[in-house]
Amino acid sequence: MSMTPSTGLNLDARQRAMLQAMHIKVWQPDSPADDGLATPTALVALPAPAAPLPRVPVSLPAVPSSTPPAAAQAGLSPRPDGIDQMDWPTLAQAVSGCRACGLCESRKNTVFGVGQLPVAPATSPQVDWLIVGEAPGENEDLAGEPFVGQAGKLLDNMLRAIGLDRHNKVYIANVLKCRPPVNRNPEPHEVAQCTPYLRRQIELLQPKIILAMGRFAMNALLDASVPEVHKLPLGKLRGQIHHCQSAGRAVPVIVTYHPAYLLRNLPEKAKAWADLCLALDVMRRAP
Ligand code: URA
Repeated sequence: MSMTPSTGLNLDARQRAMLQAMHIKVWQPDSPADDGLATPTALVALPAPAAPLPRVPVSLPAVPSSTPPAAAQAGLSPRPDGIDQMDWPTLAQAVSGCRACGLCESRKNTVFGVGQLPVAPATSPQVDWLIVGEAPGENEDLAGEPFVGQAGKLLDNMLRAIGLDRHNKVYIANVLKCRPPVNRNPEPHEVAQCTPYLRRQIELLQPKIILAMGRFAMNALLDASVPEVHKLPLGKLRGQIHHCQSAGRAVPVIVTYHPAYLLRNLPEKAKAWADLCLALDVMRRAP
């Protein structure tokens, strides 16, 4: 069986150092210009650069904005109407005042996202990369910014390893904009209430590619295009190019492990690196 021994990337010293920090060993051909960094020997098996197998793109499902009567009694109120017409500042304001589910009771801050902002009106992609995580944790709830804790440091390292940073050509958002208490998993009704905000963010950002980090991002983004996605393990969907439909475009979606999971399962970092390489490959081929 043949393995693909190289990332196909021209990694510079800084990027290789970053990969070392991530404990990812990438085979590099010996070269006279070697900069003296320790030469890693283990191979990272990468998926063959896949010919895209576009799935039939289907829109993310519409979610009714009504709030159940019991919720209204608990001080909750429906999401504002017209999310799909909102511009970026109006959308951010709607999120900061959202009381559509019980998470508004315990949050310190809403966490809308961070990164390069879209200009209005947008007629072309506003960011290259949209990274979608799960939900704010304690640090993010306090800071009002996604991925600022340990998982965020790893994400920053991963971005740096491919020459990106969170403020340049990248936007980072979560499925949920409010922290679930004690970092429990998001509940389906919370995801249902929050997904329209994410969907509008995608429409306004028009990313060239979306990296779905973790099961909840995968489910929210591919719910309409991958049958029974909720029943599939993440490992089955990574290594492929999926799509979600947004504003008339089929946006490529690459699924990968959540950085918090990678911190607990160090060997899986090599797979996350392969996913990043696949995403880079898709980006390079993007029109
Ligand atoms: N995990 C996430 O999914 N998002 C964050 O913002 C932080 C941790």
